Amino acid sequence: MGADGIGPEVVSAAVKVLQTLASSSGTFSLNFTDYDWSSETYKRTGKYIPDGGLESLKQHDAILFGAVGAPDVPDHISLWGLRLAICQPFQQYANVRPTRILPGTSSPLRNAKTGDLDWVIIRENSEGEYAGQGGRSHRGEKWETATEVAIFTRHAVERIIRFAFEIAQQRPKKHLTVVTKSNAQRNGMVLWDEVAAELSKEFPDVKMDKMLVDAMTCRMVLQPESLDTIVATNLHADILSDLAAALAGSIGIAPTSNLDPTRRHPSMFEPIHGSAFDITGKGVANPVGTFWSAAEMLKWLGEEDAAQRLMQCVEAVTERGVRTKDLHGSAGTVEVTDAVCEEIRSSF
Ligand code: NAI
Ligand code: MG
Repeated sequence: MGADGIGPEVVSAAVKVLQTLASSSGTFSLNFTDYDWSSETYKRTGKYIPDGGLESLKQHDAILFGAVGAPDVPDHISLWGLRLAICQPFQQYANVRPTRILPGTSSPLRNAKTGDLDWVIIRENSEGEYAGQGGRSHRGEKWETATEVAIFTRHAVERIIRFAFEIAQQRPKKHLTVVTKSNAQRNGMVLWDEVAAELSKEFPDVKMDKMLVDAMTCRMVLQPESLDTIVATNLHADILSDLAAALAGSIGIAPTSNLDPTRRHPSMFEPIHGSAFDITGKGVANPVGTFWSAAEMLKWLGEEDAAQRLMQCVEAVTERGVRTKDLHGSAGTVEVTDAVCEEIRSSF
């Protein structure tokens, strides 16, 4: 599902790469169903998701998503109409965002090299500041009032922090940083701190530390090598992960997984960037974020070797200098895609 803007460009590039990988490996195959849900369908029909759409989507093992957002649809309508309309009912409560500096690319941080910045940000994806609770009254009056209520339930806080501990435990550094703002926000964020402290007893081999979100931005910039796995609320991690992507070189390379760790529903994989109207249709969109998302999808589906091979091929291509403009290269979407396909074929 490419949806809007550059979404269809990068998703079709990723489908091509996945098909090349499947046919070259001969060890697995993939069947794709293309859903044309987008802001265009919304403008035509008044709905992003047609009746029965979610039931149909549920039949699949995974969803590869582009981006949603159009210049003539308010962003809160598009986001809630499509992306959150899938994430929330499918209980994709863990949003996982790995970040590294890919070979051949550079970080805007003068001293950070490939390997110095290697993080996984885990974002609570089902409630918090994006729970959709609140309201507006006295519209248009000087005394108009709006509330946006953040919801933190022990159930959701526990499951996301536990998930983050499990991810941290699988990584070589076994280090988890829990990000909150529990000095100023003294209810929900204190619950986060308490749950983290309780769960840390179950994971004695994982080193845990705590950061306030404002101080965290400084640490990400000044001591990137001191971080590994990071867990934060829906809003905080949304912001921190865009910063992370920029520090790694470009928002065009960063992937996201929206996981239902219970596997009752399909999980959804997408680049972290949006629909990028400014470059839509120009053939310059960086497809690497979607390739990396596709690799995360393969990993989730149990195709660990294929996922690794895909990332090795993407990295070989960035290292060779076949890069889009956002990575200071001169290649277009198609050239990068063809180079990755060629790399895959010659890797077998
Ligand atoms: P954006 O990510 O679309 O663009 C920000 C900047 O990064 C732009 O200059 C764009 O050209 C550049 N960029 C993004 N992806 C790129 C790529 N693959 N290759 C090269 N350059 C790339 O964010 P923006 O402008 O804030 O939002 C545009 C629309 O996308 C809005 O409607 C927004 O709501 C939506 N959006 C949707 C998301 C989603 O579907 N998950 C996530 C973020 C934004
Ligand atoms: Mg974001």
